[in-house]
Amino acid sequence: MQIGKLIQQIFWFLLSLLPLLIWLNLWLSQSQTHSLDSIDKLNKPTTQAFINEPLQPLPEQITLNADKVRLGQQLFYDPRLSKTNKMACVSCHPLTSTDKPRKSSELNNINIPSLYNVSFNVFLNWDGRTEQLSDDLDNTLHAPDKLASDWQTLIAKLQQLTDYTALFQQLYPTVGITEQSIKDALITFERSLYTPNARFDKFLRGDATALTEQEKAGYQLFKQVGCVGCHQGVNIGGNLLQKMGLTADYFAEREDAIADNGRFNLTGQEADRHVFRVPSLRNVAKTAPYLHDGSVDNLAETVAIMARYQLGRPLTNEQIESIVHFLHTLTGEYQGKPL
Ligand code: HEC
Ligand code: HEC
Repeated sequence: MQIGKLIQQIFWFLLSLLPLLIWLNLWLSQSQTHSLDSIDKLNKPTTQAFINEPLQPLPEQITLNADKVRLGQQLFYDPRLSKTNKMACVSCHPLTSTDKPRKSSELNNINIPSLYNVSFNVFLNWDGRTEQLSDDLDNTLHAPDKLASDWQTLIAKLQQLTDYTALFQQLYPTVGITEQSIKDALITFERSLYTPNARFDKFLRGDATALTEQEKAGYQLFKQVGCVGCHQGVNIGGNLLQKMGLTADYFAEREDAIADNGRFNLTGQEADRHVFRVPSLRNVAKTAPYLHDGSVDNLAETVAIMARYQLGRPLTNEQIESIVHFLHTLTGEYQGKPL
């Protein structure tokens, strides 16, 4: 009897330990996954390093059909896309230093945006008129001050050119030369215009040595004073519409210019007067002149304008210089070569 009771007591004692044992087991297995986690973090500093930043790196590689990119490029450089056969996309949107750009003064003083990284913009054009590259192509083809043509004319023209008929037949065998296939080729080329590997992107991916201390301080300031409230995300802009002159009237001392109305020209809403798409700051050191009318040539001066009219807090020359140092780290590579 005594022994039976003892066994019973031992049994109950062990049973009472069960929750503790289960907890101990869980805790051990958890701390095991914890330690696995931290090894993971050490092995992959990249994702951890930029995950909480308001700016994000461009993808290092985008997979695109190389033949379509080439066809799109041929179209981009071909003046026969315009009614007059004199104006190609590249006539206004230079991609290399040998391409001769038109002056914005020939285009109602509208600054011609760089097309690098254009596929990462949420809004297109200074007034954010379109969001799709396809709609933008419709506008560009029809605009009297751009290609001044239409799809019917363009398709008929390309169908006469044996170099194009063969290429389209090969790449779009079921449709040949249509509005859709022309757009597809041009947009595939536009998507190929991305510029990865800016020093800043390497920094975001976890390479702390990619920026100098001076440049890092410039980035801190860019965040601290509030630039990042508007210039943000993967394109460091391109995803917001904002009034130019939030904290002071930028247009007060200027003569009336239609382009200055910004989004108002599109919507007719008073609230949209002087509202513009916040431009991307990628490659900004290489894309002077600045602002919607190209009225400023100098990057430091542009930053000073931003501080005064968008933030309402003048920056010292030292602070401006520091931010400009940071902006210079945003220059990426096109096809493996620095812009
Ligand atoms: C005569 C000059 C001219 C030609 C030719 C031209 N563009 Fe443009 N493009 C501009 C101007 C100016 C803007 C900005 C207009 C605005 O914001 O009001 C622009 C804007 C754009 C944008 C929007 C970019 C952004 O980030 O907002 C894209 C995309 C574009 N053009 C692609 C093309 C393509 C593709 C072609 C050829 C099919 C072309 N353009 C031909 C002058 C031109
Ligand atoms: C409230 C939103 C907002 C803030 C904050 C802001 N910006 Fe801007 N930024 C804009 C808009 C909108 C434009 C275009 C204005 C125009 O074209 O008239 C612009 C244009 C620019 C340009 C010219 C880019 C080009 O390609 O033409 C630069 C450079 C720039 N900003 C840098 C900065 C810096 C640096 C700061 C912080 C000191 C800053 N911005 C703060 C909205 C903002």
